[in-house]
This record gives sequence, structure tokens and C-alpha cells, in this order.
Amino acid sequence: MKRIFSGMQPTSQLHLGNYLGALKNWVDLQKEEDTQRLYCVVDLHAITMPYDHTQLSQATLEIAAAYMAAGIDPKKSILFVQSHVPEHAQLMWLLATMSQMGKLERMTQFKDKAGKNKERASLGLFAYPVLMAADILLYKATHVPVGEDQKQHLELTRDLASTFNTRYGVDYFSQPEPVISGPAPRVMSLRDGTKKMSKSADSDMTRINLIDTPEMIVKKIKKAKTDSDPLPDNLKDLEGRPEAMNLVTIYAALAGISKEQVIKEFAGQQFGKFKPALADVAVEHLAPITERMNELLDDKAQIETVLHDGAEQARKMAAQTLGEVFDIMGLSKVAMIH
Ligand code: TYM
Repeated sequence: MKRIFSGMQPTSQLHLGNYLGALKNWVDLQKEEDTQRLYCVVDLHAITMPYDHTQLSQATLEIAAAYMAAGIDPKKSILFVQSHVPEHAQLMWLLATMSQMGKLERMTQFKDKAGKNKERASLGLFAYPVLMAADILLYKATHVPVGEDQKQHLELTRDLASTFNTRYGVDYFSQPEPVISGPAPRVMSLRDGTKKMSKSADSDMTRINLIDTPEMIVKKIKKAKTDSDPLPDNLKDLEGRPEAMNLVTIYAALAGISKEQVIKEFAGQQFGKFKPALADVAVEHLAPITERMNELLDDKAQIETVLHDGAEQARKMAAQTLGEVFDIMGLSKVAMIH
């Protein structure tokens, strides 16, 4: 059976990149029959960088609310918080014993986040991809829908699955497939079309957040960086115009049409015309999600119940895998309580 696993960090509000690169695809994947789906709020990942400990549990609830508001249905998907299932950290340790430091050092996200002073980066940040591998392998996920920036981490997960099998002479973990087919797997910053839209960028004007009001969305799109040429009549001519390409990609992804269709509709038009149309599509698509999210957050008990039930289901699956891995690795299970 197909089993899908994915997660997002509660580092701050979700933005359009998270939505178009991953979350929208998660929702669409709910249509697939004979598939089990687990969607996680990965709070243990979020603490690998400096964070506000007074806000973390609220941020965790907000991400869960965003999942549900976007259309993740707890009847079709198991929705839970990573730290509620202790087996994630346990399996991570076991996998850490077979993770090569050289490979972890080559992870671009580690290099970006550690910055110039690698010596001072925490062990948690360094081991981040091992925890991610544990998240995926714990549920023996077959498919992992993510944005493009997670590709390298998934390669490492596949690598660890084979290392485990080879080292212990088993055919236990299969290779999870990355699913990088969201409508826009790499949404770029509104202020610099060569940089990815991210939660950590200093200026809020670089991204559209799922909780932005319609007025904010309109303002951010209006102020988005562009060039002075009109939109061309074919996609090829957008090459070398990263900001224009980004806005066309966002329009297509939100409207559910191809980039070619967008170009056809707006060929020859200036951004003065295109931007208001894009703002309309964005508001039309995002406003109902924001509204639903706020409603859900007014009744936190409902979200907590969903997360509680989700963690219970996830723990059953996780405990089974961990028990099997203990056996394979020769650890004693005598006193294991599950
Ligand atoms: P995170 O929280 O940074 O991002 C969540 C998801 O959003 C996608 N994404 C983007 N997609 C398109 N354009 C962008 N600008 C953009 N920014 C973010 C990410 O690719 C991701 O799919 N390490 C993961 C969380 C994680 C995970 C896992 C994912 C932990 N364990 C196991 C899958 C499976 C992360 O930091 O995502």
C-alpha cells in the first residue's frame, strides 16, 4: 500500500511557498484510494535554530490549523505533532550511528543555516536530516510530497535506508520516493526572484503568509519587484526574468492553470495590469483558508483532539517499526513498554 508522509516546521507562519510547494499537493493526494497519509508538525526540527520557547506550542497549533484550513481532513489523513511520538527521536539516534558526518556536512541547508561559523552550529542542526530520515522511515513511507528544497534531504533518507539494509543484511526499509510535483515546487521571494521565498527572510514583504489579510496581499503583490518589460507571448522569453517568471508561476499555481495559459492571457500586458489580476486570484484563493484557520484557532480544543487522536494512531505504527528495528539491530526489548 502507498503510504505518504510529510511535515512542516512550526518556525513561524506558513507562506505561499509552503502552500504551493507542498500543502496544496498534500490536499490533492487525499483523493488517492488505497493510500495512507501522515501529515506531521515537526516541532523537534523547529528547535534546531534559535526560537521563541514561549510561542512554540501556539505556533504548533497554528500550523495544524493551517493544514486543516487548507483541506487536510483528519478522517482521511493522520495529523499529529512530531514530539508527541517519542519514537522519532529514538529512531533518529539509531540512524545517527550509521550516518556519515561527511555527507551531513554537504547538506546545503546546513551550510546555509550554519553560516560562516560552522564550529558553533549545534549538533541538532547538523543532525537535522537524520531526524527527517527517521520521520519518514518510522512509518515506512513510500512517498514524500515536498518542495524542491527538500530533495537533498530525501536523497540522504534513501541513502540511510540502504545503509541500514546493507549493514544488517536485511531488506527492511524500502526507498521512499520524493514527490516534488506541487503546483509550484520552488516559489521565489517577491523581492528577489533568485532567492527562495522563506520564513526566515528578514522582510515580511518578501513573502505572502497564509494569515495575511487581503489588504496585505494586495500591497505585497503591488510592491513585488519586477522589470519594466511587458509580459511576453511565450514562456521561453521569460527566461532571465526571474521575478516575472515567479509571478507567472504563482498565478498559474493559484488559478490551477498552466503557465502557458497565463502567458496567453496576459501577453503584451504591463505589470500594472498583471499585478492586480494576480492579487485578485491570490485573495480569492487564500482568503477562505485564512478565515477557516482563524475560526479553527478560536476553538483550540478541536485541533487538540485531532492531534491527540493522530498521535495515538501514529504511535502504534511507530512502536511497531521501532520494535522491529530493535530486533534487527540486536537491542534487548525485555523492558520495552508500549
Ligand atoms: P519547511 O517547514 O521548511 O517547509 C515545509 C514545506 O514547504 C516547502 N517549501 C517550499 N516549496 C516551494 N517554494 C518555497 N519557497 C518553499 N519553501 C518551503 C518545503 O519543501 C517543504 O515541503 N525539513 C522539512 C520538514 C520535514 C519533513 C520531514 C518533510 C521534517 N521532516 C519529513 C518531509 C518529510 C522542512 O524544513 O520543511
